[in-house]
Amino acid sequence: MALAIRTHEQSLSPEQESLREEALRGFAASPKTMSPKFFYDHRGSQLFELICQQPEYYPTRTEETILRLAANDIAELAGRNASLVELGSGASRKIRLLLEALRPARYLGIDISREFLQVCTRRLAADYRWLDVHALCADFSQPLKLPAEALGQRPLAFFPGSSIGNFDPHEARAFLRNLHRALPAGSGLLIGVDLVKDRQVLERAYNDQAGVTALFNLNLLERIRNELHSDIDPRRFQHRAFYNEAESRIEMHLVSRQAQRVRIEDRVFDFAAGETLHTENSYKYTPSGFRELAGECGFASVAMWRDPAQLFSVHFLRRE
Ligand code: AVJ
Repeated sequence: MALAIRTHEQSLSPEQESLREEALRGFAASPKTMSPKFFYDHRGSQLFELICQQPEYYPTRTEETILRLAANDIAELAGRNASLVELGSGASRKIRLLLEALRPARYLGIDISREFLQVCTRRLAADYRWLDVHALCADFSQPLKLPAEALGQRPLAFFPGSSIGNFDPHEARAFLRNLHRALPAGSGLLIGVDLVKDRQVLERAYNDQAGVTALFNLNLLERIRNELHSDIDPRRFQHRAFYNEAESRIEMHLVSRQAQRVRIEDRVFDFAAGETLHTENSYKYTPSGFRELAGECGFASVAMWRDPAQLFSVHFLRRE
């Protein structure tokens, strides 16, 4: 196979969803919030890579081990000549764990960041010359139209990293229903889901000793300061992450160290001392809880794998 990659376009410029609009909306809201998707500028993506290497942050490492061990089972369930559809191809390192076992006919990477998508799919095409590589620049939280020539006969969608945890359960259902509409009956869905567990293990994973998660969280304020007209000073905020057991989620916040007034563009926003900007939710599921959620959206459970310590799960579901 040549290095030619067929790029398909969907939304006009999905990555240029405005930080400005989100900041003005989020800082005016009560409580103040920002969507975690704004973490991932260039520096944010680098910091996330570093988070994944921290000893306390178990999800990445654990999921990779599960995928390595389950690769042959997954290949058998996917069948021959599958078309691997990766949602958020930032994870294309993980896909490599499956390619040799699976030997899919084609690969379709979908990502909101055009630049990132190009780099990842080009690299993949160079390393796996036998693979027919497609790229689709789209926001998969919006209705998706998957190009038929990239779908083939047996699509297997891959959504690793417990990225689904960033959606609240209502949004997760909307996302799965959206995916259900985009995939033909019989398609597979391989999805990584972080598990409910001991509070200490969870809280350590989001409060690493080296302070990388804190920098990742505070980088959101750096972005506002650098990309918008704003006098916001990240040093006046502190990283906080804790497990909200009633909601089964890790919450990340930026806590104002003092009473302060912040300017963004032509607006001002007041923070009381201790007031927080809520920057992320990361939902955790039990195996049965997730199966039930997926079932409501037309995805039947076929198999599930966990590590021995039961930190993380990978589900194989079938689109009905
Ligand atoms: C990429 C959303 C799965 O929730 O664990 C890591 C992001 N935030 N540390 C997660 C994240 C802080 C991560 N997800």
